[in-house]
Amino acid sequence: MSESSNYIGGVFGTGQGPEQTVINPATGETVRTYRADDESSVAAALAAARDAFPQWSGATPADRSAALYALFTELEKVAEELAQAETSQTGKPIRLSREFDVPGSIDNVAFFAGAARHLTGHASAEYSGDHTSTIRRQAIGVVGSISPWNYPLQMAVWKILPAIAAGNTIVLKPAETTPLTTLMLAEACGRADIPAGVVNIVNGPGPTTGEAIVRSPLISMTSFTGSTAVGRHIAALAAGNGTRLHLELGGKAPFVVFDDADLDAAIQGAVAASLINTGQDCTAATRAYVHRSRFDDFVSGVAELMGKVRLGDPLDEDTDQGPLASFRQRDKVAGMVERAVQAGARAVAGGKAPGGDLAAGAYYEPTLIIEAEQKSEIVQQEVFGPVLAALPFDSDEEAITLANDTAFGLAASAWTTNVFRAQEAARRIDAGTVWINDHIPIISEMPHGGMKSSGYGKDMSTYSFEEYTQIKHVMADLTGAVAKDWHRTIFRQR
Ligand code: NAI
Ligand code: MG
Repeated sequence: MSESSNYIGGVFGTGQGPEQTVINPATGETVRTYRADDESSVAAALAAARDAFPQWSGATPADRSAALYALFTELEKVAEELAQAETSQTGKPIRLSREFDVPGSIDNVAFFAGAARHLTGHASAEYSGDHTSTIRRQAIGVVGSISPWNYPLQMAVWKILPAIAAGNTIVLKPAETTPLTTLMLAEACGRADIPAGVVNIVNGPGPTTGEAIVRSPLISMTSFTGSTAVGRHIAALAAGNGTRLHLELGGKAPFVVFDDADLDAAIQGAVAASLINTGQDCTAATRAYVHRSRFDDFVSGVAELMGKVRLGDPLDEDTDQGPLASFRQRDKVAGMVERAVQAGARAVAGGKAPGGDLAAGAYYEPTLIIEAEQKSEIVQQEVFGPVLAALPFDSDEEAITLANDTAFGLAASAWTTNVFRAQEAARRIDAGTVWINDHIPIISEMPHGGMKSSGYGKDMSTYSFEEYTQIKHVMADLTGAVAKDWHRTIFRQR
């Protein structure tokens, strides 16, 4: 598959579109080039998915489950290769690839292999007295899916697995800068004998390859993870196409430290949760609201710990933080920090790209911003980089208000040793996930998805089946009568 761009109907192939380059952001070197898939590859992929649908959706849950377990086994065999490839195309530290991205993805496959046999519905019953009502949960058809570059393998798995576990077939386009591990996932699908056409991959830019999927009349659903702007554009296209939609559009997670919090835990938690994946995580801690009585200690603790984070070669086991995933993303982060400082905020840690050997890569120092206004860009907009803003608050009420004061609602955390405060924060913060005394962990059994401008619909867990299945009510007459009771509304004499 070395230069392949696509996997269509169980066969690897090469696109006919413009050349794309996969860059290692740690060095700027080219990892791979490939030709983008144009409309003809996309059409072939969609046709393969359509043709595979009747048989796959009609397979028994046990058969689908067995195929997914086989995929799990194949992925386990190539876990280290997947970790190396993920790090080479994203620059994420190899420890993160090995201990989070790859095992998390593989566990998701195992989860959906099991869940494929647990598609649930209401009990059948005689609700009218004269009919048996049955609920059928059915696959939707061909799913068109677009995934981002921050967790390429994991996002592909989150999109593909619930879709195919429920009996759908899929065409997925990864981000054009990070195709490698998604193509390796396709190879594993082949080795696992997942029937040809169930999983299809195409690669190329969003506005061409991506839109060809989203606009197609052959798809019944679109699922997307990425920026809010592109998500809304896709929503408009899906509305025109009449397709069902699932959107995960990033976040601006608050990290609320109450006055009774374990401050050491909050400091360490804030550094880990803001720097994970170099901050390119839609649930990353981005806004620390800290009770004024603890604010100075929190700021000095976080700044000190950020200063100890080792930037370096992402393949080195000792590296804590790699580069951003692209030079473009690094420049976006640098621009947002510059504008924050111009607006009167201060960087008490980082605030710049490192020099020396690291200048050849897309690196940016761990950054702590204070004295930013709540209404400012750095507090309101997604940075997607190793940047945390800290702001003080005076009352619990103010903390909750500030936590809810952005357009986003994906994730949040509350740090307190008081159970009542913890419950109150969990109830009142508008976010799809609220952590108590931690921030970041996810688990295959539990849903991931947003509120407000963070989108709608859930990834992972059996809740994702609500996106990827549709419900049919079957109502069967039990009386055998010619004249049904309700016919009195039509036939007056009776
Ligand atoms: P993006 O939204 O452009 O990229 C995500 C995916 O959408 C990629 O596969 C891309 O090819 C595709 N895409 C782009 N334009 C498209 C179109 N017109 N039609 C169909 N597909 C399209 O994200 P971008 O521009 O690379 O990053 C910008 C910001 O987005 C980041 O700084 C971050 O704030 C946010 N983001 C959030 C993510 C999340 O996990 N929610 C993931 C990636 C980015
Ligand atoms: Mg974009």
